[in-house]
Order: sequence, then structure tokens, then C-alpha cells
Amino acid sequence: MRHPFRIHVRGLDTSVGSDGRASVYAAIRSLLSRRSPRGCAQGGCGLCAVRLIAGEVVLLGPMSASKLAVGGPDPARVLACRIASASDLVIELGESLLRLSGRPVGASDIEKQ
Ligand code: FES
Repeated sequence: MRHPFRIHVRGLDTSVGSDGRASVYAAIRSLLSRRSPRGCAQGGCGLCAVRLIAGEVVLLGPMSASKLAVGGPDPARVLACRIASASDLVIELGESLLRLSGRPVGASDIEKQ
């Protein structure tokens, strides 16, 4: 399968390919523990929240406003299961995904949420 785009995950200092059709969450799940929960994959649970630092995305469907900081201090917070890459991306994992990644979560990570 061709992966024309790269998703760089800031903080993990790694990247993963994206075909531009599957969700960003599907791509980054390959970086997480095999035992990590899948989440709802429908924009409702908030497990897959990330910050979009750079790049263009297309929306795959609606996102639960209650899981986003809509109108809050972080408008870049999006649900990775509801977006696909339209270019190379730079993202930061939300707290839930950071914990699943096995990377130690520090106070500065939590402040970003
Ligand atoms: S996996 Fe539930 S909102 Fe994305």
C-alpha cells in the first residue's frame, strides 16, 4: 500500500506513513501497544484526541464537541479517528494516547490538554 504522507508524532520522535484515506488514528495505532484499546472510532469517546501542529487534513465525519475544546484555549485539538491526512502532518498525542504509548507523561504534557 502506498503511503504518500508522513505523520510525525512530536514527543515520540517517530513517524508513520499514511495513505490519505484511512484515519490518522488508524495510522498512529501502529505505534501504540498492541493491547491498547481501539476506542469508538466514531468521534464520540475522545480517546484519540491529538493536537494538530502542522499540515492539512480532511474530515471523515462528525466529532463530539464535548470531547474537544471547542471555543477553548486549544482549537488545534482534534479527534484522530475522524480525520485523514491531506499532507504530511505533525501531531502531538493527547494524554490518553501518550499513556498508551508507554512514554512517561509529565506535567507539561498534561498542561497542553
Ligand atoms: S476513538 Fe473514540 S473519539 Fe476517536
